[in-house]
Amino acid sequence: MSDYNINLHEAIYSLSDALDLVGVTHIHHGKRVAYMAVEFGKYLGWTRSWLDDLFQAAILHDCGVSKTTVHAKLAQFEWEQEGEHCRIGADLLASSPLLRHLSPIVLHHHTHWSKLKDADLPMNVKLAANCIYMADRVDILMLKYIADQVDILLGKEAIRKKVAEKCGEWFCRELVDAFMEVSRSEAFWFSLEANHVNSYLSIWTSETASRNMSFGELRSIAHIFSCIVDAKSPFTREHSDRVAALARKIGELFGLSERNCEMLELAGLLHDIGKLRVPDELLDKPGRFTESEKITVRRHSFDTYSILRNIKGFEQVTLWASQHHERLDGNGYPFHAKPPDLSLEARIIETVDVFQALAQRRPYRDSLEPDKIMDILVKESEKGRLDPKVVEKVGAHIQECWLTAIGGT
Ligand SMILES: [Fe+2]
Ligand SMILES: [Fe+2]
Ligand SMILES: [Fe+2]
Repeated sequence: MSDYNINLHEAIYSLSDALDLVGVTHIHHGKRVAYMAVEFGKYLGWTRSWLDDLFQAAILHDCGVSKTTVHAKLAQFEWEQEGEHCRIGADLLASSPLLRHLSPIVLHHHTHWSKLKDADLPMNVKLAANCIYMADRVDILMLKYIADQVDILLGKEAIRKKVAEKCGEWFCRELVDAFMEVSRSEAFWFSLEANHVNSYLSIWTSETASRNMSFGELRSIAHIFSCIVDAKSPFTREHSDRVAALARKIGELFGLSERNCEMLELAGLLHDIGKLRVPDELLDKPGRFTESEKITVRRHSFDTYSILRNIKGFEQVTLWASQHHERLDGNGYPFHAKPPDLSLEARIIETVDVFQALAQRRPYRDSLEPDKIMDILVKESEKGRLDPKVVEKVGAHIQECWLTAIGGT
């Protein structure tokens, strides 16, 4: 296993773009929440390392939300079933050694202070969770002004009043006092505009040193995001995981270096990350797509590109992941790339993506048996769309590939 020189903050910050896409039109929620939470924490004199944890937890706080329908519910100021996405998010973060310590913060980011204050947790965890909760609700209160294109400064006092009303019950007094102080300035509200919030957060990430991450650590983070994407639809359960495993297997069969096999696995895990923007009803649609729905669904591999390309050190992974719907004859999308711009690794991902999808049930068809899948892959290679050498390699190891595709190994 090799090491990767990647800035953890930058990787999380970039990948969180994918979470923000779940809002469809309500974008940058996670980023605004991170900005506000850090500002409140700074006002209270929290240490830089505590603020770094707060930043990461804030930017990931809604990682338990994959579905656009759930996201829409969270845009209500009060919603009774909000606990489920907190539990899902906390479980996901607990699966990574690098992010495990953020799990209790995310678990409690909707817990009322009246209950949380007595929980058996360190005080900084409770305060961080409640700080994110308050920032999150401020952002939700801002929504209607953004939607109605009303200047946020006209809504400022109503929002401050609403937060003050929840002091002691929903939010800790110390945090509400910090909010009331910080939010007095116009600058605080102007800074929530997209361009300001983005530059604030990228300065924050650039000020944190990159450190070497092992492949295992990096994989654990990529795996969290693959789980978020695959949870979007009951039909795509483990799709990214299986594509990653298949890609590595075929890479090994081609004798690629260990480093390239690792990167193939990462590209497999992250290839559909742009799908988080696709509304649930399209992914679960049993019939044919209209032309406009096709455009919406098809842009996901470009969104994968725009999310991953900001991570320094991820150039190859970005390319291979975002080219998974390209075709050998240049008629794929979104770049219409063909060799030599379409590397063997990208052609492996393309082929195993089709293989795994055919092995899985979809709303419009049942799962297919291995020989039927091979018929389709061979036909696609004869048409010049899939790489015949890759298809041949899959065919020569069909039983193993089939088991990997369905999660049998
Ligand atoms: Fe939430
Ligand atoms: Fe949220
Ligand atoms: Fe895809």
